[in-house]
Amino acid sequence: MEIFRDDKMDIFEVINKRKSVRNYLSDEVDEKDLDIIIDAGKKAPKAGSFQITVVTNKELLKKINEFTIDGMKNSGNDFLVERANTPGYNPLYNAPLLVFFSAPAENIFGGLTASTAAENVILAATGLGYGNCYLASPTFAFQTSGKDELIKELQLPAGFNPLVAVSIGKEGASESGVPQEEVDNVNYIE
Ligand SMILES: Cc1cc2nc3c(=O)[nH]c(=O)nc-3n(C[C@H](O)[C@H](O)[C@H](O)COP(=O)(O)O)c2cc1C
Repeated sequence: MEIFRDDKMDIFEVINKRKSVRNYLSDEVDEKDLDIIIDAGKKAPKAGSFQITVVTNKELLKKINEFTIDGMKNSGNDFLVERANTPGYNPLYNAPLLVFFSAPAENIFGGLTASTAAENVILAATGLGYGNCYLASPTFAFQTSGKDELIKELQLPAGFNPLVAVSIGKEGASESGVPQEEVDNVNYIE
């Protein structure tokens, strides 16, 4: 599929505009926009097999949210445990749509491939005006006793594990807008 829209943003405008959105309206993502966003994920650099799974089922989103909190509470990581115990914490931020990127354990580049696809999805969603967030936390849902049940509900090919997720939806009331931190983490070897 060729991506074309009259109102599309310049790639650098998209990159500058992208930010993690953690507050969503319940409005659904338009079907045509979703096709473009997912197609962008498929066009990312890839190595080995991987799967993109789009979840809009409200019951399943609720279950993933709850299992994620359980998984984070039992992660043994102080930061994640504290986050999970924060009153009102919703790891999916009530987004109406979640995209999982999964790969089989034997794909040694599965995580890297999942990440390139996730970033393409993020940029496409941003370009079409949707809020989004790169999320590692939902993978903790698959470190609970509910793992098999969730994998079954996601209808993943046998042996595939979710490695990263992206939430997408219309942005809710704007957050205070913390400017992106400027980090000096580039060195040049001449
Ligand atoms: C590997 C990775 C995992 C992340 N996991 C989460 C997550 O689980 N939940 C979340 O709210 N943000 C998550 N983020 C988003 C970062 O918190 C965010 O990108 C960072 O704070 C910079 O903010 P910005 O995206 O608005 O520029 C993750 C980002 C990366 C790269």
